[in-house]
Amino acid sequence: MPSNITRFSISLETDLLEQFMDMVERRGYPNRSEAIRDIIRESLVKEEWEGEEEIAGTITIVYDHHKRELTDRLTRIQHAHHEAVLATTHIHLDHDNCMEMIAVKGTATLVQSLADALISARGVMHGKLSATTTGKTLK
Ligand code: NI
Repeated sequence: MPSNITRFSISLETDLLEQFMDMVERRGYPNRSEAIRDIIRESLVKEEWEGEEEIAGTITIVYDHHKRELTDRLTRIQHAHHEAVLATTHIHLDHDNCMEMIAVKGTATLVQSLADALISARGVMHGKLSATTTGKTLK
């Protein structure tokens, strides 16, 4: 066992442990420890997003580019939040529909406000903000 690893035991209700074990198997974790690590990291990332720390993520939106002035509006929204936008990838899904993936980094407030503005824009059919971390604070 590496020296930076500490083994500890936890107490759980039997039913809860069974549910956890089922989840470990369902999700294909190699062992319980790896599943626990992911759950802890997920909680830590969630805390980062609740605070004012710098976070990272992606915003994905799907829209019909024929919708009047929509492309211009989406560009304006991104320019208004330019300090949070790292890169944008545009994919022409078919004749009408576009998918745009925007990589973002900044405070959660700024990133959330950009995501809200894009996703709520009229003509955007679906949008999703995927919240992750810059990785600086996780071990
Ligand atoms: Ni397109």
